[in-house]
Formats: sequence, structure tokens, C-alpha cells
Amino acid sequence: HRHLTGIDGLQPHEIMFLLDESEQWIDSNRSRDKSHKQLRGLTQINAFFENSTRTLLSFEIAGKRLRADVVNMHAAQSSVKKGETLIDTAMTLNAMRADVIVIRHQSSGAVRLIADKVDCPVLNAGDGRHEHPTQALLDALTIRRRRGSVAGQRVVICGDILHSRVARSNILALTALAAEVRVCAPSTLMPAGMERMGVTPFTDFDQALEGADVVMMLRLQNERMSGGFIPSNREFHLRYGLTLARLARAKPDVLVMHPGPMNRGVEIDSAVADHVVHSAITEQVEMGVAVRMACLDVLTRRARRVKGWS
Ligand code: CP
Repeated sequence: HRHLTGIDGLQPHEIMFLLDESEQWIDSNRSRDKSHKQLRGLTQINAFFENSTRTLLSFEIAGKRLRADVVNMHAAQSSVKKGETLIDTAMTLNAMRADVIVIRHQSSGAVRLIADKVDCPVLNAGDGRHEHPTQALLDALTIRRRRGSVAGQRVVICGDILHSRVARSNILALTALAAEVRVCAPSTLMPAGMERMGVTPFTDFDQALEGADVVMMLRLQNERMSGGFIPSNREFHLRYGLTLARLARAKPDVLVMHPGPMNRGVEIDSAVADHVVHSAITEQVEMGVAVRMACLDVLTRRARRVKGWS
């Protein structure tokens, strides 16, 4: 593959390959090993049309740890605000001879559109409600390291499934790796056809939690809700908030995950989010850097070979 636009289209062995490639960067990051130079001489542009903390910073850190020249384009300070189209923006980045472009955009499909127009590899850092592939990879890596394997794990993904690109990419990755995936949401925030994606839908969170190995909580994506039913925070917490009492329904060694940003007291209580045994939330962030290093390295290999740089 030239680009990473989604988990959709990746074979299970390709997902496993990216997880295996990520492993080598974890220890290297922990020991602050500065000897790696895989992306030296390459220009990486991070074009973010939507807010981000974790994804933007970890792509920047990942590129810098591999010695790329990293440039961030924030849409709020760019000529997008003056009416420039997405295609014209893409052609501008291309003309600057970027070697790899990382894109976050509020429209589903925008990353694919840009990938078709530019000469270098493009990585999707989240597009609308569509996909967030590096998030799914870092989640799978976290599960694999904590539980030994993704296969056979009962994973409950709970929250605003309808608007969540994280849920979609995770469903694709986790089912490809043979996990048993349950999704849980109010019926108004549950997409149709979940069974066709190989997952079991629940509206009752207590039922969904029975025997869970992993619980992944998602926030309400209020910015993507236009009209329709928007639950109040209080109402949502009552039926779908992860409390310690609720967590007792899962396996005793259950792993709690959240992609962030968290809304404490809404979808997750602080006692759960900060739990020293169960919570893997900060570990997810750490895995994010390793996964993004692996993706940048793997996707630029061909370009580096063509240039005779590796
Ligand atoms: N998980 C995630 O995508 O977080 P950010 O929006 O902060 O990048």
C-alpha cells in the first residue's frame, strides 16, 4: 500500500506486521535512543484541519525521533480560512515536495481525496466519521501487550458509536485480529448493520459488560451531532458512564481504555480512568508514538529506496 487511509482494505497479516514493527520503537523511546535516522532528509507535513492533542503531537514526535524535517500546518492559521479548496491546498503541499503528508480533516473521505492527488504517501490522522487507523493500531498494540493476544478477547466499545471514526477503525482492526467485539450505545447513537461488521450491538451497558476482557469508552461527539437526539451528560452518565460498580461486571483483570479526549464524569469516572491496575489510558498514548514511528517508517521505505537513501 502506498497510503494508510484506513484499516479497511488491510489484511490481518498486514495489521500484525505494523504492530510487530511498532514493538521495536517502544524500548527505543523509553531509553531515549537517538541513533535512529530512518527519515533523515525527508520532509513530513502534518496538515490538521481539525483540533488534536495526541495525534498531532505524537506524529510530530514520531517524525522527529526518526529525524524527518517536520512541518505542522494548522488550518486555522492557513489560507483555508481565505477560501482555498481542499484540492488546491493538497496541490500546494505537493508542490513543496513533501515526502509524507499526515492529514486530519472533518470530512469523511477527505484524506482519500488528497491521497489521490499527491505524489507522496498520505497517512490518515482521522477523517470525519470515517476512519482513524493509527488509533486502532495503537489500541490493538496496547491490548496485545497487556493481554498477550487480541484474538479471543471480548472487547466492549461503548459510547457514541454512530459518530466515531475510532469505533469504526477499531471494529475493523479487532475483528480482523479475531477479537469478540461488542458495541454498546443508545439506539439513537448506534449505526445500522453492526452485525454485518461482525460485532454484537447492545443498548444495555450492564449486559454488554458481562465477562469483558477490555472496555473501550468513547466520548459523545457533540461537534458531529446536527439535530436529532443528543443525550444530556447526566442522562448519558446514568446509563452508559463507566463507574467502578459497573466495571465489576467485567472480568476481574479487565483493561479500561479511552482514546481521549476524556469527559470525566460523563462517559467515565475518574476512579476508573485513573485506576492503577485497570486503566491503560496513558499506555495508549505511549503506544501512539511507537505506532506512528512504524507507520512513517514503513510507508516511506519505497520512496527512500527510489532516492537511494536506504
Ligand atoms: N485520540 C485522538 O485522536 O486524540 P486527539 O483528538 O487529541 O488527537
